[in-house]
Amino acid sequence: MVTLVDPFEDLPLRDDLRSRAPQAVPQVDAAVRLDTNGNPYPVPDAVADSIEKSVRGLVRDLHRYPDPDALALREDLANYVGHGMTAANIWVGNGSADVQQQALLAFGGHGRTAMGFSPSRPMHAHVAAATGTGWLDGHRTREFHLHPEQAKAQVRVFQPDLVFLCSPNNPTGSAVSLETVEAVAAETPGVVIVDEAYVEFSRDGTRSAVELISRFPRLLVTRSLSAAFGIAGARVGYLIGRPHAIEYLQHVRLPYHLSALAQAAARAALAHASTLLGQVEAVKAQRDRLVAGLRELGLTVPDSDANFVLFGGFRDEKAVWQFLLDRGVLVRDVGIPSYLRVSVGTAEEVDTFLQVMGQLPDGI
Ligand SMILES: Cc1ncc(COP(=O)(O)O)c(C=O)c1O
Repeated sequence: MVTLVDPFEDLPLRDDLRSRAPQAVPQVDAAVRLDTNGNPYPVPDAVADSIEKSVRGLVRDLHRYPDPDALALREDLANYVGHGMTAANIWVGNGSADVQQQALLAFGGHGRTAMGFSPSRPMHAHVAAATGTGWLDGHRTREFHLHPEQAKAQVRVFQPDLVFLCSPNNPTGSAVSLETVEAVAAETPGVVIVDEAYVEFSRDGTRSAVELISRFPRLLVTRSLSAAFGIAGARVGYLIGRPHAIEYLQHVRLPYHLSALAQAAARAALAHASTLLGQVEAVKAQRDRLVAGLRELGLTVPDSDANFVLFGGFRDEKAVWQFLLDRGVLVRDVGIPSYLRVSVGTAEEVDTFLQVMGQLPDGI
């Protein structure tokens, strides 16, 4: 994006935002793009047909506003989530970052603080800043673990109004245990948001924080249709919580915020959950190949419950990033010294990536 400087205009941007970099997604072109954690597979034909049909069915009604409460979609999502949830437990938005921002507008704001455990998704700090909420940076172990006692101790010191846990954690890949979520939820007097955008990719036996909602009224779980359902372009994310939390979000939501097209696309995709979750199994198989292949090369690779893998042990991760790009493979430099992150691609993309990694010069 080009930044325009107009010498005649000094717009009164909030002082607390002036020192921050604007949100931007790096755009670099490459033959094999493994830098964003989307779904490597295009929407399958049967799902695409259903989406087309439902969108076509409402085009002539686009002169009307959509259902402001997206009730039918929330019912479908509640059925998908299970655990006894109903539409009253679900809120929806334009991607999960949107519902997280709404949660910060309602439960954070000026004079309040939110915390996360680094390294984790920078967007959590970004939505905190956008809503005027102070940010406190907690930490994980050197191996990127977050043990219950360690998390609880940090919450006790910081006393935040809101805590972000990311499970599976982006960019490190592993899920946070339910014991850790429980320890944090029991310690904080504030709201806990568990970002489960990649939960469908978790290894067997991983438990969702949704299980804890009945015990912790201030626990919110956010999820997304971007990765597992592969409709990132439709921009649909959702939040799961107790009905009173969903009601409080109505104080800050915008009217008709989720378009009729997005609602229809999401409902059509959810109707094909079993097909789309079949693709998730294919992604998990490629993920496990990536983990094994990178470990065979002698690299440090945390376990991954996601559709991406952190890999490291480099002297100069920026040189490795460039080496890969020069050979047509784009991965993400996530700002952790000696590490890079690769998103799971198709079997062919994973082949190419591992092949190029095998050519990496010693000592880089
Ligand atoms: C942890 C995490 N949460 C949420 C998102 C974004 O999800 P959405 O597309 O629903 O905004 C991402 C995307 O990178 C992510 O890594």
